Amino acid sequence: MRTVEIKKNIYWVGATDWDVRDFHGYSTYKGTTYNAYLILDKKITLIDTVKKEFKSDLIHKIRSIIDPEKIDYIVVNHVEMDHSGALPDMMDLIKPEKLICSDMGKKALLAHFHKDDWPYEIVRSGDAITIGDNSIQFIETRMLHWPDSMFSYIPEKKLLFSNDAFGEHWATTERFDDEVPLGELLRHAAKYYANILMLYSRLVGKQLNNISELGLDIDMVAPDHGLVWRSHVKDILDAYSDWSNNRTVNKALVIYDTMWHSTEMMAKAISDGIEKEGVNVRLFNLDVNHRSDVMTEVLDARAIVLGSPTLNNGILPGMAGFLNYMKGLKPGSKIGAAFGSYGWSGESVKIMTQYMKDMKFDIIEPGLRFQYVPDHSQFKECVDFGRRIGKAVKEGD
Ligand code: FEO
Repeated sequence: MRTVEIKKNIYWVGATDWDVRDFHGYSTYKGTTYNAYLILDKKITLIDTVKKEFKSDLIHKIRSIIDPEKIDYIVVNHVEMDHSGALPDMMDLIKPEKLICSDMGKKALLAHFHKDDWPYEIVRSGDAITIGDNSIQFIETRMLHWPDSMFSYIPEKKLLFSNDAFGEHWATTERFDDEVPLGELLRHAAKYYANILMLYSRLVGKQLNNISELGLDIDMVAPDHGLVWRSHVKDILDAYSDWSNNRTVNKALVIYDTMWHSTEMMAKAISDGIEKEGVNVRLFNLDVNHRSDVMTEVLDARAIVLGSPTLNNGILPGMAGFLNYMKGLKPGSKIGAAFGSYGWSGESVKIMTQYMKDMKFDIIEPGLRFQYVPDHSQFKECVDFGRRIGKAVKEGD
């Protein structure tokens, strides 16, 4: 449990959660970190805290540098419990002169902890405070991803504390982006974006423009999860630009749920057809793939092809859950298509198509449905259907 000096007199004092495997529906199969940062200056400042269960880690780390009671200010960039759960105990221990947050942050803190006697200091975008040799500028980032969210920026250090933005759920002992393989890091960042921020892509784009218009000179981005960006700041900013602009690649996903393998066989034949057109395909059986991993692939896929048999005049529960999750995350415009087997009523294709229409996908119609078990000629129809999808994906290049 070591602290890490990320810039002169600025320390990572967060906690590593090796065990968490589910983060409100997101599969955190490699754990996560809850990052907090301690700034030593005339006014000693703590940026964010950690999840309640990890308060001892935070206190221990701070104590290895200074006596926690010496902290003057606590900045709350975001009220969600993974960053504020330890706050009540830290407030009791530290009794800071100021608890700095956005206006929405104060409202959220009151609604969470019901403490109206805390020394709230509300800051707005453009406000700055001097803490000695350093100053902290505040940038509200409403709905990225909560109403209270904000960034804190230290111009003297070219350091942006970005809270959830630019983070990843990945527990490591390494603290910097250049200490781990960049591809794996960006993959975790993509998963984070796809499952937490995707529905706010329009606001992410605006915020990136805002950072550019403010002319912030940034050579380090310190998020509240995962690793600190110092060597690949441009890579993560460019990736956010791509993701928020819904930039897609030559890739189709065939996502399916199956009962007696007929829909699965259709999925494979459709994939063959797509591949024959020179398009990359990924098959996801929802029985064995976690929805949050599928969403990571949705992020830059150009086509989403959904398969489910009909069950009880509806779709299989795995597909229903996935569609509900994906619809909530509002992926940008995609090519969509649906298929599935059925016994007698056969509503599944219509239901999946309607979901995709609601998400403003460009649908390839009619979808494909076959009764019970497809025969040889019907598999050929699946391949042809796949070829139509593949051609549409290529036209998007
Ligand atoms: Fe990491 Fe929105 O909390």
